[in-house]
Amino acid sequence: MATASASHAFKNFINGQWVAPKHGRTLENRNPANTEDVIGLFPLSGQEDVDAAVSAAKTAYRSWRLTPAPKRAEILFRAAELLVKRKEEFSRDMTREMGKVLAETRGDVQEAIDMTYYMAGEGRRLFGQTTPSELPNKFAMSLRQPIGVCGLITPWNFPMAIPSWKTMPALVCGNTVVIKPAEDTPLSTYNLVEVLCEAGLPPGVVNLVGGDGPGAGAALSKHAEVPVISFTGSTSTGRVIAETCAPSLKHYSLEMGGKNIILVMDDANLDLAVDGAIWGGFGTTGQRCTAASRIGVHKSVYNEFVNRFVARTSKLRVGDGLDPAMEMGPCINEQQLQTVMSYVEIGVKEGAKLLTGGHRLTSGPHAKGWFHEPTIFGDCSPKMRVAQEEIFGPVVSLIPIDGLEQGIEVANGVPYGLSASIYTRNVNRAFAAMQDLYTGIVYVNAPTIGAETHLPFGGTKQTGNGHREAAVAAIDFFTEWKSVYIDYSDKLQRAQIDNN
Ligand code: UN1
Repeated sequence: MATASASHAFKNFINGQWVAPKHGRTLENRNPANTEDVIGLFPLSGQEDVDAAVSAAKTAYRSWRLTPAPKRAEILFRAAELLVKRKEEFSRDMTREMGKVLAETRGDVQEAIDMTYYMAGEGRRLFGQTTPSELPNKFAMSLRQPIGVCGLITPWNFPMAIPSWKTMPALVCGNTVVIKPAEDTPLSTYNLVEVLCEAGLPPGVVNLVGGDGPGAGAALSKHAEVPVISFTGSTSTGRVIAETCAPSLKHYSLEMGGKNIILVMDDANLDLAVDGAIWGGFGTTGQRCTAASRIGVHKSVYNEFVNRFVARTSKLRVGDGLDPAMEMGPCINEQQLQTVMSYVEIGVKEGAKLLTGGHRLTSGPHAKGWFHEPTIFGDCSPKMRVAQEEIFGPVVSLIPIDGLEQGIEVANGVPYGLSASIYTRNVNRAFAAMQDLYTGIVYVNAPTIGAETHLPFGGTKQTGNGHREAAVAAIDFFTEWKSVYIDYSDKLQRAQIDNN
């Protein structure tokens, strides 16, 4: 039976107004822990809705880009304060639509708070350089300038944090935005936009257009008046976006898949490593681009590690994330659950040893949700598909390794390069790993997850296209440099030519 809010129809946010999608088409947002709980109907927007949002953003850009950055930042600061106030409510909304447990959704909202404060602080920095000219009586400096309307296409696994990673730097730099949230979790992005609106953002600066990838997402990334696209999601969709953006040479930042590893060395604190493996592998039901879906364990501690890891995993409490006793929630939707189940089959077929889990959970408290057991494959070879491909679910593949050198080779031997971790108490090994792991993020004695908002986030190889999110790296993406030369010599001075 649907809840009271089932019939609630959410609208798009365009030019400071909540407006229904032009053709009245909607998407249902269902609770993945109880699919009879319909959270609401969200717009399934098309080209006209995207056009209206882009046009509003384009008009708003004229004055927003000229609003002093510290003033823009004050609005962000107020938004951060409102997020703090409503953290609990937004966390509950998020667990209901996304499934991850409350402790984690509180972390997601907190990450949006952190990012919003951080970028509010940037309003009084946005530093460029001043530098001496090579010529006399000439001044040289570089300034950051905004680019225009930014299209932000965001994923369902961090439905408030990741939209904030993109929205806050874009805004503080003087851009305006159109956000297309993930169709599985639009409510959390609605909550973020509502707060920005309440904080006093002028109409048109932030616009929100609900919909799916082939509809609203494609319309946004193709749009001639949108010079910037920032996308987080699967590598296959990222590739489509790259192809869409290439003909017009618009800027695009892609944050995509991962096949992240934890390396457990023979000198590791094994209890700590097991804690890390549980959190890294099964936190967010493994539905993180930074999830630890592989664990390379030194042969001399392999059996000991496996015993402890399997014992802990088989006791994990899986259920509705709103119940504080639960440790792992459901998969996001039926399709994701089917993907997980098909990888379990693949793993078994290719000879990996199923040590625990491996099944969909269908009875009792799990009867109405998309639940899957936390699953471990042992004795995997590094080239098995379960050890190479991103599963995005609660499946961890254990790979025995015979030392650091082989561990690094295994770690780097996948198409992705987001995050990697090593558990060791040997400082030489830790530094060697920091040097040789070819990933955008490395952890020592911590799992593959836990990035903070003031350091760059992103990865190498097929994880990204060279950009980074968060930190000053995000400011770099959402601005362009303008170098300015001021000649006060009152005569023609030619660089290089007059300088020999
Ligand atoms: C993701 O893995 O999809 O590093 C994002 C973390 C979070 C963000 C993760 N701050 O765990």
